[in-house]
Amino acid sequence: MTKILILNGPNLNLLGTRQPEVYGTTTLKDIEVMCRSRADKLGATVEMRQSNHEGELIDWIHAARDRFDGLVINAGAYTHTSIALMDAISSVAIPTLELHLSNIHEREDFRRVSYIGKVAFDLVMGHGADGYPMAIERMVSHLSS
Ligand code: DQA
Repeated sequence: MTKILILNGPNLNLLGTRQPEVYGTTTLKDIEVMCRSRADKLGATVEMRQSNHEGELIDWIHAARDRFDGLVINAGAYTHTSIALMDAISSVAIPTLELHLSNIHEREDFRRVSYIGKVAFDLVMGHGADGYPMAIERMVSHLSS
């Protein structure tokens, strides 16, 4: 069975109340339920985690080697700053999909830079919470192709 790790970076624990005009009102817990249900339908399993700490995200990426087939990551603001996260992904060489609720290409200039994008095979953005199950779908089809 395909095993997918979904990692969420800083401030995403506040989804539901954080800038709802940008990120919507769905909580991370709701998103996890959506992900599980989509994964079930596709014969996959998902594990979802969130951290506000760069090092913890890196440790989880390292530990994912040999345990997960794919990584879906919404790295939050670390997307735009973290060479360390990018290197962690390259180091474990797990197929990785970059995910964002908002369209980072249509916001401030500093959000246009993505280090995660340099090591990801695909990008889902601008679909709000619905982007999560969408990302699982793309990951499963990528892994089976
Ligand atoms: C985000 C976009 C990032 O620029 C921002 O820092 C976030 C959330 C998104 O999901 O749209 O924290 O990754």
